[in-house]
Amino acid sequence: MTNDLPESTSTHWHGMHLPAEMDGGPHQMIEPGETWRAEWVVDQAPCTLWYHPHPHGATERHVYRGLAGMFWLDPAAGSEQADVQAQLPHTYGVDDIPLVIADKSFHDAGELIIDDGGNEVGFLGDVVTVNGVAGARLDVSTQWVRLRILNASTARTYALGFADRHVLMIASDGGMLRSPVRTGRVRLSPAERAEVLVELQPGEELMLHSFEPDLGRVAAPFAVGANDSFDVLRLRAAGELAPSAEMPERLASFGPDASAVAVRRRFELQGRTINGRRMEMSRIDETMVVGTTELWTVRNMDLSPHNFHVHDVQFEVVAIDGDTPPAELGGRKDTVYLEPHRDYELLMRFQDYTDPQWPYMYHCHLLRHEDEGLMGQFVVVAPGEEADPSLVSGHEHGRNPPL
Ligand code: C2O
Ligand code: CU
Repeated sequence: MTNDLPESTSTHWHGMHLPAEMDGGPHQMIEPGETWRAEWVVDQAPCTLWYHPHPHGATERHVYRGLAGMFWLDPAAGSEQADVQAQLPHTYGVDDIPLVIADKSFHDAGELIIDDGGNEVGFLGDVVTVNGVAGARLDVSTQWVRLRILNASTARTYALGFADRHVLMIASDGGMLRSPVRTGRVRLSPAERAEVLVELQPGEELMLHSFEPDLGRVAAPFAVGANDSFDVLRLRAAGELAPSAEMPERLASFGPDASAVAVRRRFELQGRTINGRRMEMSRIDETMVVGTTELWTVRNMDLSPHNFHVHDVQFEVVAIDGDTPPAELGGRKDTVYLEPHRDYELLMRFQDYTDPQWPYMYHCHLLRHEDEGLMGQFVVVAPGEEADPSLVSGHEHGRNPPL
């Protein structure tokens, strides 16, 4: 077993739009016994976010041990989004339920297994926990229930749904979809979120299940979890259910304008590199000018899973291999699964918070990949300004301890 001595870490607010200095990335380490205070003004659409450590080279081991939590942004009173929220199930713990899903493995005595043989995608556990509980159950007392699902696994991708009915997907990482999407399976790769509505009949029991996920053209499906399925959460409806309001048809309007694209970039993920380079703590890879709308083409060059996460912004997936993406990907996102050998076009706008010194990150959120270097750094600068690497070059390079 690897040691459990206190070690330094960081806390990253995943999906939050904030100044880079408050982002909690690998340059913002907190030593044992030390306190770090982050402060910012929340300025983004209502959504379901999360936070987790981000120490360079050790994120997998920290997150796998359970250092993660959810973070909800509710709509401001009187806003258009508040009207939508009022029609949706929105009572925390009653009909609006957080589900933090993570796979683990345990020794017979119930102790967490923390050293595994290793796998191309990272650690795949054989038990799926919900909010830290294996075999989780939920008693439901309303006709409709809203599940806010976070994939907090370090490597595993799920295809969540019910055997006998569709759900209405209403939100993804960065907030509401434009309108609800009826779907049988919600694919969630590590760090992605989805909010879904499900309707129950009085007295019934049903199982939220993870079906065999479609991971695209991977070379060895059995080795990367594509053949695995799990029971996730048992829902037990009361004999009488409180009626819910009619579900709304329009949820949100949003989006930067694709016609305003001023900069295009291409990112190729291969092995543990992006565009041929591994993460270097002392190197700023990209510089964005504030106020710019950009279109990034991101491609998984391998025949095994990767995904792609960008700090600071919520992007829109505008095309996959030139085609319109499925409706489930039609919302604002900060993380997207990359099926092998396909071009994902991501539209985003760098709106504010210039800082030539403090970088944000983009990376694969399969955490072993991230730890091993599948990550890059960018700064957002004012027009005419240049990236200033003096802060990052002063930093020690990350370590790569075992899980
Ligand atoms: Cu959820 Cu850079 O991470
Ligand atoms: Cu990866």
